[in-house]
Amino acid sequence: MSRSAAFDLLPGSDKNDVPAGIVQLNRSISRALRRQRGDFQYYDEPAGDPSLRQQIALRAAKRGWQAEIDELCITSGCQQSLFLALMAVCQQGDVVAVEAPGFYGVLQLLEQLGLQVVEIPASAETGLDVGAFEQTLQRWDIKACVVSPSFATPTGASMPLHARAHLIELAERHDLAIIEDDIYGESGWLVVPDTLKAVDHSNRVIHCSSLSKVLSRDLRLGWISGGRWHDDIVRLKLTSQLASSRFIQRGVADFFADGGYAAYLRRYRQQLQQQRDQLLDLLGTWPVPIRATSPAGGLALWLELPEQVDTIKLYNRALDEGVVITPGELFSMSGKFSNCLRLSFAHPWTRARAEALMRLPSLMA
Ligand SMILES: Cc1ncc(COP(=O)(O)O)c(C=O)c1O
Repeated sequence: MSRSAAFDLLPGSDKNDVPAGIVQLNRSISRALRRQRGDFQYYDEPAGDPSLRQQIALRAAKRGWQAEIDELCITSGCQQSLFLALMAVCQQGDVVAVEAPGFYGVLQLLEQLGLQVVEIPASAETGLDVGAFEQTLQRWDIKACVVSPSFATPTGASMPLHARAHLIELAERHDLAIIEDDIYGESGWLVVPDTLKAVDHSNRVIHCSSLSKVLSRDLRLGWISGGRWHDDIVRLKLTSQLASSRFIQRGVADFFADGGYAAYLRRYRQQLQQQRDQLLDLLGTWPVPIRATSPAGGLALWLELPEQVDTIKLYNRALDEGVVITPGELFSMSGKFSNCLRLSFAHPWTRARAEALMRLPSLMA
């Protein structure tokens, strides 16, 4: 199975069920489009619309990071931000550290860019093992480390403050770039952790994020703050994309400015918490021994099944029944996590979803 086929969707998600916040967002974008006059004849500035960058900076300030708008560049999503970050920092053949298990989109980028990968173990609760990373740095000449400090996928882990500080200290000592994937950062329902940028005293963190996970995947709107590599990153965006769509950016900026985003996010976080609980309750009734994470943010949890269960086989059997799951092996280059599974709680709970999940244990034999 290829990594590009990976997504977790269980039956029961109704694409026609549009939340009120998204309706409001769409109205903001429509208004911005109607206000457009001669813009269609010109490209936006490469770094993106200042009003949207201003709104992103205001949100960053709530998370311990006083970002200037000149430090931010709008992208077409977090995947593009990660791509630009790796392009700016690395040359073909360089070694990049990633967390294992970690986001398969990063593994795809590293493969595409001809970069070598070193996997650093990550705990399902506290994320990247910074002590193990320190040891790895003795053996490898590592250029960059890609890390999700807050609600990492697939586990939902968040790094404690001392580990974050230690990571920044290692970056300084070993002359590294830290590429922070913060796409789930704002989803937290108990706390919204500070960004890694909040402790980035030497400007070595490249912060990458987007609205895909908390608002809309279809906006294709993200951002990057490139630290000491920022000017190169903006140049790379210019050469690869020229500019972003201005009316979408302005519509989203208005949605932020009039409080629509904050209100939407408050409701969405509650909904995610409820959906996580529903999923955990159901998993508690499974007749097989499992270990499940219980994240306080993000859209998915990580399941460890009995050793002998092969989740690629389970994936194929489940697919025949119309159920799509994400096998653990996708989250590493080295064939680990074959008895693990990422399960999403991003979609509203339905009877069809519950029944599909109840069928999974019978497909494990
Ligand atoms: C951890 C992580 N980073 C980045 C991305 C890419 O996000 P975007 O849709 O903003 O490009 C995803 C999407 O699945 C993700 O899970």
